[in-house]
Amino acid sequence: MNDSSRLPIGLFDSGMGGLTVFKALAERLPHEDLLYLGDTARLPYGTKGRDTIIRYTLKAAQKLVDMGVKMLVIACNTATSAALEAVREQFAPLPVMGVVAPGAQAAAQASVNGHIVVVATEATISGGAYQQAITRIRPEAVVTGRACTLFVPLAEEGWMNGPIVEGVASRYLADIFSDSTNETCATGTAAPDTLLLGCTHFPLLQEALQNVVGSQVRIVDSAATTALRVAEELKATNLLCQGNGPAHYRFLTTDNTARFARTGSLFLGRELGHGEVSLVDL
Ligand code: DGL
Repeated sequence: MNDSSRLPIGLFDSGMGGLTVFKALAERLPHEDLLYLGDTARLPYGTKGRDTIIRYTLKAAQKLVDMGVKMLVIACNTATSAALEAVREQFAPLPVMGVVAPGAQAAAQASVNGHIVVVATEATISGGAYQQAITRIRPEAVVTGRACTLFVPLAEEGWMNGPIVEGVASRYLADIFSDSTNETCATGTAAPDTLLLGCTHFPLLQEALQNVVGSQVRIVDSAATTALRVAEELKATNLLCQGNGPAHYRFLTTDNTARFARTGSLFLGRELGHGEVSLVDL
């Protein structure tokens, strides 16, 4: 057994959205201790420039490494897209996992006709990480990216369905999905059959998005696939926790613990007590 196996897994996100990944990890690996850091003071990352995202992500990763973790999971699509390689380089040989490759894998497997739509933040879409990751797995795939900036505050506000969310979603997506009941779009390519949620916040809006894109479109996200990949990596590196007692969870945020607890509960799917969250500075 590797001695580091007793340490927690460190998860990082720009805010509370990464708690969707935390939840999937806790379900798959119920004995692993988890240390979560949400950089709410600097949220959102998705509208920021690449260099800024890399700088912020490296600082957050340093904080988790200083506290002692056996693996880092960048549970933020924007930070993974811009900074995964920089974090891997800086903290080698610590294993560092992101959410983009697992999300791309989930979408590539789910799609039958190979036309996949990725919705994500502006930075994730403009960086092209998902588009590249999907076509690495399925070179023939047609990947359409769409930045959906307003989905982030809607999810944080707890507005997960209803006419306002569906109206916003239609505004972003109607042109892409208007033909999706037909076999081919006006452009001649097959109509998209898969929608990949390339942002930690978007799984909360899944029901509304399904109403907008139609029931024939499969909606996938990276949380469950990331948890599976983390489990495989821990096993391969001999870092799986050996105990079978209850796991310990810690939640850190860089601003407003009360808001983190309130909004975080939506993403975690359970009540997160104010007292469970600690304030840290980076
Ligand atoms: N966590 C970010 C992501 O998954 C969304 C929020 C932000 O823009 O910082 O892309």
